[in-house]
Amino acid sequence: MAIVLGIMSSKGGAGKSTITKLLASAFAFTENRCLIIDLDPNKDIVNWWSTATQTGYVDDNILVRPATNGNDLFDLVDRHESDVSFILIDTKGEASSWAVDLASVSDVLIVPCMNAKGDRERTQETIDWHEDLKSRAENPERIPPLHVVLSRVKPNLLTHVRGTSKPKDLASREFERHYEIIDQFNPLATMVAEKSQYREMDEMGPLGVILQRYRASGDPNEKLKAHHFEVALAHAITLVNNIFDQRKMEASDAA
Ligand SMILES: Nc1ncnc2c1ncn2[C@@H]1O[C@H](COP(=O)(O)OP(=O)(O)OP(=O)(O)O)[C@@H](O)[C@H]1O
Ligand SMILES: [Mg+2]
Repeated sequence: MAIVLGIMSSKGGAGKSTITKLLASAFAFTENRCLIIDLDPNKDIVNWWSTATQTGYVDDNILVRPATNGNDLFDLVDRHESDVSFILIDTKGEASSWAVDLASVSDVLIVPCMNAKGDRERTQETIDWHEDLKSRAENPERIPPLHVVLSRVKPNLLTHVRGTSKPKDLASREFERHYEIIDQFNPLATMVAEKSQYREMDEMGPLGVILQRYRASGDPNEKLKAHHFEVALAHAITLVNNIFDQRKMEASDAA
């Protein structure tokens, strides 16, 4: 039976589709078949896959299907749950009726949150919605856990040690808010960095396929790029492991 991951946030542009592609890249690279269900009417994932198909950047371990409503979602999960190991569901950037459907088919919900005032408010709303859903459920233990993932984290925050001085070239408010968000949401231990490799993934296809292309090249510059893609994939795989271990930024990590 496939493990189902629902990616949601009521904030547009928070990084849902990027995290979906990142997780799919990690599953495919580790030879796990996965299905991505694209529940966003903008069809970002469907378009991504169609471009990747045209340019030959596909991985046979990834399957992409569009869904327009909750019924499609249930059908697709039913149809594929025994032939893939993981199902990722990418959703649109606003809360709506499908959110309950999403929770009912998912084993875990992932909520990306960027370091911005609006993202913080909307993430809190999503957490409140999840708490409310649990409080109204007959079997609250059947409501999947929800994990916040810090999204598009700047490199100087990614490597910052809490309690030490603010990195230069970072606004004070942004610095303070980074730790306020960590304290407020207790996010997963692995943050998603702002990386040019993820933008390249957005334009071309899964990280592992890009990596193989660069590895196969005789050009030394491309060999160096391959190294950056190895690091990006290693982060994606660490994120997957943290999701399943439910490893959060405990006080000891953040102290
Ligand atoms: N970690 C990252 N590193 C670099 N660029 C990123 C990262 N995360 C997101 N982006 C870029 O930010 C833009 C918005 O990200 P994305 O499409 O993943 O957001 P979304 O939550 O799916 O948006 P929507 O609500 O519109 O579906 C994209 O152009 C993407 O390439
Ligand atoms: Mg999207």
